Amino acid sequence: MDSSAWFDYFTRNQRADGHIERVCGTALDPDLRRELALSLARFQLGEASGGRIAEEVETARDPALDLHNRRAIQFYVLEEARHARELAALVLALGGTTLTQHWSSDWFRRVRRCLGLRTKMLTMAAAEVVGIVYYTLLRERVACSTVERTLALIAREETRHLNFQASGLRAQWRMPGGRCVHCSRSASCCDFQSSRARRCCSCSPITATYSPA
Ligand SMILES: [Fe+2]
Ligand SMILES: [Fe+2]
Repeated sequence: MDSSAWFDYFTRNQRADGHIERVCGTALDPDLRRELALSLARFQLGEASGGRIAEEVETARDPALDLHNRRAIQFYVLEEARHARELAALVLALGGTTLTQHWSSDWFRRVRRCLGLRTKMLTMAAAEVVGIVYYTLLRERVACSTVERTLALIAREETRHLNFQASGLRAQWRMPGGRCVHCSRSASCCDFQSSRARRCCSCSPITATYSPA
């Protein structure tokens, strides 16, 4: 799928938050319910981050980003925020509480912020892989229709997110490669603004417009 197809997908996939009615009463062992709430709360925190990317992508000077791609990424971040709300509702319905901080979420955030937008997206792609496995496993193993329905929906959307990320990576790899003449970082790990200037945005602002060789 190209960027306009992904834009169409995310536009069509906007939906209301899933309604969490009740969480399977006595069917769930109290210990399992407690552990489940705690575990889901950690993932909820991860789903809630990423808002900066939506802002950054608006102005990022990355030749691999066209307008459709920028909007698709913003919709993508909005879907993660929806997952966060749905997981928060699920955690509360299980009798747990949401978290405001956890080391795993903190480290993901630190790694995301240490380099450019492409690295942030790559970090989110890694989280998609973990999320797909985690949500799918819980959906299959927890005997509760509310948990199953909520996580099945999220897992399905995470799978689409991973496909979207793969599409973005392929687009980046098709761009002209090379290294920044100033810091020698490769094109795959920093945001080149001009294939002619050969400088990454961390070194100096580049005013030249992108023009494929
Ligand atoms: Fe998500
Ligand atoms: Fe996702």
